[in-house]
Amino acid sequence: MIHHLTPILSPRVLALCALMMPAVPALAQSGGGMMHMPGGHMHGADGTGHDEFIMPGLRGRDASPEESAELAFMFRNFPGLNREVELLPDGIRTYTWSDQPELAAVLVAHVGGMLQRVDEGRDPQVFIQSPTLDILFQRGETITTEIETTENGIWVTQTSTDPEVVAALQTHAAEVSDMAARGMQAVHEMMMQRAAAAGQ
Ligand code: HEM
Repeated sequence: MIHHLTPILSPRVLALCALMMPAVPALAQSGGGMMHMPGGHMHGADGTGHDEFIMPGLRGRDASPEESAELAFMFRNFPGLNREVELLPDGIRTYTWSDQPELAAVLVAHVGGMLQRVDEGRDPQVFIQSPTLDILFQRGETITTEIETTENGIWVTQTSTDPEVVAALQTHAAEVSDMAARGMQAVHEMMMQRAAAAGQ
């Protein structure tokens, strides 16, 4: 159950999301492998002048091109993300924000979309996603979610009556913090640690 304390996508956010769209057709047209615009280079909708590049690992079995583009945008611009996490006895309360309007809009779109997916049990199966998410998708009905958007970001409160789900919510919140702080480096290290643990 998701409670929206403010409309999840304000007209301002929708307008900002539209600014992100130039990144999407390139992704949708790509047949596979690495994503490049014809000609090899594509200059960013983010105004940084950096090449657009969407890692194949950010695609998923059930993820839309827009969802993968949102992930790519957040990873590319992670230094602009800020985050605070409070652990509750039965869950988490987080505030994630950015002073960069486009980044804040993409963040809010990602969070709204993913929380909706958890609520509906629709796992996007993004190739690099954390296995911590598995139990959240399996037991989404035990989670109560409250979201509130601000000018710059989004508050998320999630609680559960299931202690294993509470543990997963808290672990995942820490993983999000690590991704917001260190971007794709954090993902690579998490994947390597899991691979090492599986090999022991
Ligand atoms: C820079 C990278 C990322 C950022 C900043 C980010 C941000 C967030 C935030 C703020 C939340 C709300 C929960 C919380 O605050 O702890 C969230 C939830 C979620 N994210 Fe991301 N995320 C990132 C990468 C990813 C990736 C790679 C995936 C893979 C599919 C993903 C999937 C999800 C899912 C499924 C949820 C809902 C989980 C729940 O119910 O708590 N995120 N993300």
